[in-house]
Amino acid sequence: MKAIVQDRYGPPETLTLADVDAPVPAAGEVLVRVEAAALNAYDWHVMRGDPRLGRLAMGPSRPRARIRGRDFAGRVEAVGAHVRTVRTGDAVFGDLGDANGAFAEYVCVPETLVAPKPANLTPQQAAALPLAGVTALLGLRDVGQVEPGHRVLVNGASGGVGTLAVQLAKVLGATVTGVCSTRNVDLVRSLGADHVVDYTRDDFTRDTRRHDLVFDLVGNRSLTALRRALTPTGTLVLSGGGVYRGGSLVGPIRLIARGRLVAPFVRHRIVTLTAAPGRQHLDTLRAHAEAGRLTPVIDRTYPLHEVPDAIRYLEGEHARAKVVVTI
Ligand SMILES: NC(=O)c1ccc[n+]([C@@H]2O[C@H](COP(=O)([O-])OP(=O)(O)OC[C@H]3O[C@@H](n4cnc5c(N)ncnc54)[C@H](OP(=O)(O)O)[C@@H]3O)[C@@H](O)[C@H]2O)c1
Repeated sequence: MKAIVQDRYGPPETLTLADVDAPVPAAGEVLVRVEAAALNAYDWHVMRGDPRLGRLAMGPSRPRARIRGRDFAGRVEAVGAHVRTVRTGDAVFGDLGDANGAFAEYVCVPETLVAPKPANLTPQQAAALPLAGVTALLGLRDVGQVEPGHRVLVNGASGGVGTLAVQLAKVLGATVTGVCSTRNVDLVRSLGADHVVDYTRDDFTRDTRRHDLVFDLVGNRSLTALRRALTPTGTLVLSGGGVYRGGSLVGPIRLIARGRLVAPFVRHRIVTLTAAPGRQHLDTLRAHAEAGRLTPVIDRTYPLHEVPDAIRYLEGEHARAKVVVTI
C-alpha cells in the first residue's frame, strides 16, 4: 500500500510517499481502507521531534511510528478474531493515537478506537473530528466543567480545535467569546460565538469582560495575562500551542509546567489537557454531528502524496480549521 513514511526527524521534506506492506488485523483489531485522514498540530510535533523532551515518548532518534497521521475515516475491509462491535463494510472514523499510521491506504486499529461514521458527514468531514473534537469536548466538558450560563473564551477559535470548541461550548449552554485574527472573525461568529475578539486590534486579557473558563489553544500569553481574563474563581485550561522555532527543549510544555507549578497556590483552577482517543467520545461527537450541532470546517484538502505540503501549511499555525487528506 502507499503511505507517508519518515525515517528521521526533520522538516516536511523528510516525509516520503512509499510502498509498504499493508497491515494485518490482529485479534481485537479491524482493517480499515482509509478514505480521508486529517492533520493535527501533533503531526508536525512528531515529524520534527519537537519539543525535544517529547522524544522520550515519540522516539529518541527518529519517530517510533514510521507512518505519520492519527485521524482517519474509511470503510472496514476485514476484522480480526474476537471483534464484536464492528463488521466488514462498516463506515467508521477514529484516532490511532500514538500508534500513528493514518496517512496510508490502510490502517489496523483496535475496535475500541473506532466508531460508526456520522451518517451526515463526508469521509473528509468525519476524519476532521476525532483528535480535535475530543480535545474540545474534554477541554470544555470534563476538564473545564462548563455549565449552562458560563462565560467561555476560546483563544485560537479559528483553528482545528477552536472551531469545534466554539460549537461545543454553545452545545453546553455557554456564552462564548472567540479570539482570532481579522480574516476569521466572520467564520468564528458563524460557528455561534456570541462575541469575537480580533487579536490584531484588541487584547482579550485587558478586556473588562471576565470568563468562567479560558480555553487556551495558542500558548502565546503568560499565565498572568491569561488569568487576568478569568473571574475570581474561573478555570484556565492549557492545551499547548506554538510554532516550530528552529528546535526547542520544552516548547509548549513550558507554559503547561508553569501552570502546574502555580496551580496549588492560586484561587483560579489551572488545569492541563491530554486528549486520549476512545469510542465513547467518538459516539458523543457523532451524536452532535448528526443532530446538526457540530459541523467540522475544512480549510484545505490535499491528495496523499502532497502531505508534506499540507503539514508545511498547518505548522504555520494559521490554518483555518481543519486540513484534510483524501486517499
Ligand atoms: N493537549 C492535547 O491533548 C491537545 C490535543 C490537540 C491539540 N492540542 C494543541 O492545541 C493547539 C491548537 O490545535 P489546533 O489543531 O487548533 O491548531 P491549529 O489548527 O494549527 O490552529 C491554528 C489557528 O491558530 C490561530 N492563531 C494563531 N495565532 C493566534 C493568536 N495569536 N491568537 C489567537 N489565535 C491564533 C490561527 O488563527 P488566525 O489565522 O486567525 O491567527 C489559526 O486559525 C495546538 O498547539 C495543539 O498542539 C493539544
